[in-house]
Amino acid sequence: MASSTTTLPLCTNKTLSSSFTNTSFVAKPSQLFLHGRSSQSFKVSCNANNSGEHEKNLEGLDRRNVLLGLGGLYGAANLAPLATASPIPPPDLNSCGPATITDGPPVPYFCCPPKPHDMENIPYYKLNTMTKRRIRSPAHAADEEYIAKYELATSRMRDLDTNTTDPDPRGFKQQANVHCAYCNGAYKVGGKELQVHFSWLFFPFHRWYLYFYERILGSLIDDPTFALPYWNWDHPKGMRLPPMFDDECSSLYDARRNPSHRNGAIMDLGYSGDEVQTTQLQLMTNNLTLMYRQMITNAPCPLLFFGKPYPLGTNPSPGMGTIENIPHNAIHAWTGTKRCSDLGNGVKSYGEDLGNFYSAALDPVFYCHHANVDRMWYEWKKLGGKRGDLMDEDWLNSEFFFYDECSNPWRVKVRDCLDHTKMGYDYAPMDKPWHNFKPMKQTTTGKVNTSSLPPANKVFPLAKLDKVISFSISRKIEKNEQEELLTFCLKFDNSKNLRFDVFLNADKTVNAVELDKIEFAGSFTNLPHVHGNTDRKPATFQLAINELLEDNGLEDEDTIAVTLVPKKGGRYISIDSAKIDREDCN
Ligand code: C2O
Repeated sequence: MASSTTTLPLCTNKTLSSSFTNTSFVAKPSQLFLHGRSSQSFKVSCNANNSGEHEKNLEGLDRRNVLLGLGGLYGAANLAPLATASPIPPPDLNSCGPATITDGPPVPYFCCPPKPHDMENIPYYKLNTMTKRRIRSPAHAADEEYIAKYELATSRMRDLDTNTTDPDPRGFKQQANVHCAYCNGAYKVGGKELQVHFSWLFFPFHRWYLYFYERILGSLIDDPTFALPYWNWDHPKGMRLPPMFDDECSSLYDARRNPSHRNGAIMDLGYSGDEVQTTQLQLMTNNLTLMYRQMITNAPCPLLFFGKPYPLGTNPSPGMGTIENIPHNAIHAWTGTKRCSDLGNGVKSYGEDLGNFYSAALDPVFYCHHANVDRMWYEWKKLGGKRGDLMDEDWLNSEFFFYDECSNPWRVKVRDCLDHTKMGYDYAPMDKPWHNFKPMKQTTTGKVNTSSLPPANKVFPLAKLDKVISFSISRKIEKNEQEELLTFCLKFDNSKNLRFDVFLNADKTVNAVELDKIEFAGSFTNLPHVHGNTDRKPATFQLAINELLEDNGLEDEDTIAVTLVPKKGGRYISIDSAKIDREDCN
């Protein structure tokens, strides 16, 4: 890789500027399985809490404005009807408090980033369009020269951690703390805990986070073209821990990983704590099937891809998008130490490092993993149909807080990160074998006899999903542009690793180890996370089934068979109801 001698832009004082990017939301047509939409968002929700969640928290808004000195910027917005103006504001660093290990005790150290000197006047970040393009390439194919640069930058970043009395916000640990504070309850906004996972904030938060992290690395080696590598887990060649992170002498190494997932072990993109007993080939086949289902089949509409709305005043974690669920969460769990194992000195593992949000960013592979998550956002938008960024102002105007490579603090908006090329980086092209991995194998002969199955309303509510169940469910035969969704109203213990798989037109004899078949609809998983109390939380799990109905020849059937296969922690999952609805795509 050519090394650049270009000097970095000098670190200067920031100027107050608001940066609005002109972004096109127009999705391209596509040859893929696509549907039209008319308007509005999904209305199906079983989360009783959600109904009251959209009440806006005036107190929270005002307090933030006072703290951040934003009366001028935000004061007017507060007078406007709140229903359209309640994005999540940047967190208040002055009130950053102790964090809790997901599913565990308090984080044993203070994970708040250093406070900026002038908290009142943190300016908006302005993207510099003149910067040299940084090209992110697949990690498994990196050459020696690149690895050496990346290692050097990372070890310099680690060196910045030595001053503990006046911590450098660019230090490796401080960077990891940014993630800890945003994800483990250190911040409150609008009177509630701030959480950047399990909602529509997931993609934009991590895009901005990596943006600054990458620039800090580049500045530490005087190379503004330095780009993070991406963990190409959506390609068979990348379905293992990238070798550069597996070298014990490297600054990219982290000892707190699952030792049985090193040395070229093939990943399970749907991992939920147990090893799948199958061949490597079947594992890779399952992975590509999962990628196809999460990117294409189950994400025809923006909210299905990005996750559920999370405006100010909402309870945290309203619901994940498809990719956040699988493979993102599964890869965190697959890489980190096995939960409940011994970390040494009798300390019990909560999945450290990558398998728990408080510690995840202490593993350098975190940023490589997220570079590929970020790449999926870009790839998904290219698939066409209704696939495009959300247009909801509450999403576009949500804000975060970061430090840059000069240790300057900045506020950033979601709307400014929609086009990654305007942020000065791009992805090296790579083929996407999942793209054409539409399952074709039919394992059921004809239509399953639904009259021998109990109907959904006799099966649910179900207290625990501790064994395979099959039921019949009715639907309306209609031909229109809407998405047909199979919706489950669940309650589950969110402190546990969980997974179940859903099959259409299959009965209890279904072989659930092989996912590459037209009957496989998708999977529900949970990566342990707890907010406040450990009561079972209600959640909505939705699968877009138009494509499956067509592939299985069920479009003209008013009753179909559904089979649920618990794969992890089924006794911690209860299902209140299952139904099939049609919804507009948004
Ligand atoms: Cu912020 Cu992959 O987690």
